[in-house]
Parts: sequence; structure tokens; C-alpha cells
Amino acid sequence: MTGASASCAMHALGPISVPVWPNDTGITHIDPMVCVVSFSDNEAIRKIAEPKLLEAAEVAREAEPDRWPGGGGAKIRDIGEWPCAAMTLLHKRAQEAYRRLTKEQEAHIDDCWASVYEPGDFIGPHAHRRTNVSVVYHLTPPDPEDRENFDGALGIVDPRVARCCPTKPGYVTTQLYPPLDPGTMVLFPSFVTHYVTPHRSKSPRISIAWNIDGKEIPGNVADEPLL
Ligand SMILES: [Fe+2]
Repeated sequence: MTGASASCAMHALGPISVPVWPNDTGITHIDPMVCVVSFSDNEAIRKIAEPKLLEAAEVAREAEPDRWPGGGGAKIRDIGEWPCAAMTLLHKRAQEAYRRLTKEQEAHIDDCWASVYEPGDFIGPHAHRRTNVSVVYHLTPPDPEDRENFDGALGIVDPRVARCCPTKPGYVTTQLYPPLDPGTMVLFPSFVTHYVTPHRSKSPRISIAWNIDGKEIPGNVADEPLL
């Protein structure tokens, strides 16, 4: 999927219309390699997208009853094709964030998926091998008290990320946990090693992820699964 810059465009979201990129929305570096963007209209997006994602997650879990909890929750891999206004808006925002961050004209979505975590689900350290930038959007993060304890948190641990190496460059002595609030979008180079700690809240944790590049990439989009 590609698209021209959408910074000024409006997007219909049920009975309302919202800007693809609100004027007051900026990309903040929390590390030279890691950025966050906060969208204040997440609740309107969640109301539309969450029921559909929970239904799809139920189907995914029924199809894979012996799924390992360390596989990163139920994966919904066809969201790029959904005729869903909320999901389309998120695709546009991920692409626009990529363009603003990289200054590139094109933002090709190489892969996108939703992850729905139940209690106990997690995913170990991994990277995404094909693209320039990976993007994660927190649609329904863990409960606030669990967020404070870094339960169900997206963590980064990588020797190339300065905030992971506060005492000696290249030597990881701490983890970086970007904000986990609803409507937060996190961007980092796809090569950066990241993970999600075990989810503990009773309600499902839902995130959307994209791997984006400035050009179309031939070959198989699937990363090797963590087994
Ligand atoms: Fe990942």
C-alpha cells in the first residue's frame, strides 16, 4: 500500500470526520532511534475497531487452540484488506508518520497485523528484517496499574539504542519502555530488538503493527516465527 501525503486530509469515522494528521500532533524522539506520537481521538477509533478485532481474535484462537503464549497473542493478518474506516485511518496515520519521520515521499506498508493479547500472552525479543521502520499503535493497552508495572509493555533492548546503554555505548544495561497510553504510536528502526512483557490485565490488550519502507520490497513478507 502506498499513498501521497495525507497531512491535510479528513477521514470519515462513523458520524464524525477527523483529520488524518491533527495539527497539534508532533513526533517526539524519546531516543535518537525511537519516536512516539499521541493521538487524542483513540476512543472514537477503538469503538469501531475493537469489536471487529476481538471477533477476529476469537476465530484465530479457535483455529489455533494449542498456540504458545509466547507467540505474541492472537494475530490478525488481513487487517490491510478490511473495509473498516477506523483501520483505514490507522493505516494512513502510520504511513504519514513514516513520511514525516523519514522525509521520504512514499510509505509502502510491507506488512501489517493486529495482536490481541489475553492474560499470560507475551513475545520474546525479536526484530523485523525487511523494512526501514516498524510502527506499533496501542489501541487498547493494559489497565493503568499494569502499565505502571510494565506488564503487557512494549520494551526495547538493543545495543544501538542509546537509552538502553546509559553507562557505556553499545552495552545494554537497561530496557526502554515507550509510553503505553491509549492512542500512542511508537516508531523505531525495524532492526531494533523489541518484545512485549506478559500481559496481566483481564481485558484484552490490542495493538496494531506495521512494517513500512520507502519502496516496495519483493519476496516473502513473513518474519520467521518465534518458536
Ligand atoms: Fe515485533
